[in-house]
Amino acid sequence: MTSDIDLRRRYLDLVERALLNEIHGEPRLDAFVRGAAIRLRHPWETRAWRRFWPVKAHSMIGRARLSNLRSLVEATLRDGVPGDFIETGVWRGGACILMRAVLAAHAIADRRVFVADSFEGLPRPDKSRYPADRGDRLFSFGELAVSEDEVRRNFEAYGLLDDQVVFLKGLFKDTLPGLRGERFALIRLDGDMYASTMDALENLYDGLSSGGYVVVDDYGVILSCRRAVQDFLGRRGLDPVIEPIDASGVWWKKA
Ligand SMILES: C[S@@+](CC[C@H](N)C(=O)[O-])C[C@H]1O[C@@H](n2cnc3c(N)ncnc32)[C@H](O)[C@@H]1O
Repeated sequence: MTSDIDLRRRYLDLVERALLNEIHGEPRLDAFVRGAAIRLRHPWETRAWRRFWPVKAHSMIGRARLSNLRSLVEATLRDGVPGDFIETGVWRGGACILMRAVLAAHAIADRRVFVADSFEGLPRPDKSRYPADRGDRLFSFGELAVSEDEVRRNFEAYGLLDDQVVFLKGLFKDTLPGLRGERFALIRLDGDMYASTMDALENLYDGLSSGGYVVVDDYGVILSCRRAVQDFLGRRGLDPVIEPIDASGVWWKKA
């Protein structure tokens, strides 16, 4: 007989595969055409990671970072770390959908998933406030602008859109201060830029429970994101053990 634990694992495995579009597979021709269009429109952009933006999948973060997220969310539930969950920078919503799926799989009805994004892509760099973002041109990629309606539809497609999902539309510098005082079990930062990473840390870190987790998606591949993390930790005199997930993502546990 299949145990509850086995059914839960199979359900979450299936959600992960669906989020990565492994079931139908990414359309190769579309991926090729889109890659070529990006190269033509942004010839200055040589960074390799743009190749990993999927055509149809609901998340661009790949298997290792999705699985890591699932196990950290499950660890907070197992260890009774209080609080909600948030991703800052959601794109098509995949990582947030996975967090909501984990809550569903464990029949958790009293925790929420916050879905924070401009839903219009990245902002232009504010060089006076954050000089580290000088020259950043991610704002010019239309591929990174996904509307709130589309993200809601994606949640619906998994049967996971309900009042445990809270949408927070706007730039982080405007929306995240409103979350001061909220308690989080895990915060997942995926805003790519120095400003987006720093705004998230400054507004959310104090609300993160002891024993809760910080995940930073771009630490390994975007220098300005890593610098924001280092500046924040340095200013606070914190020196956590930062664990790599893959070449890009990292996490640490709040003491
Ligand atoms: C790399 S994508 C996120 C990928 C996503 N986590 C996934 O699972 O595929 C970055 C997202 O961050 C958002 N973003 C970046 N900086 C932002 C800011 N300062 N305010 C609001 N949204 C921001 C963009 O709109 C975009 O949706």
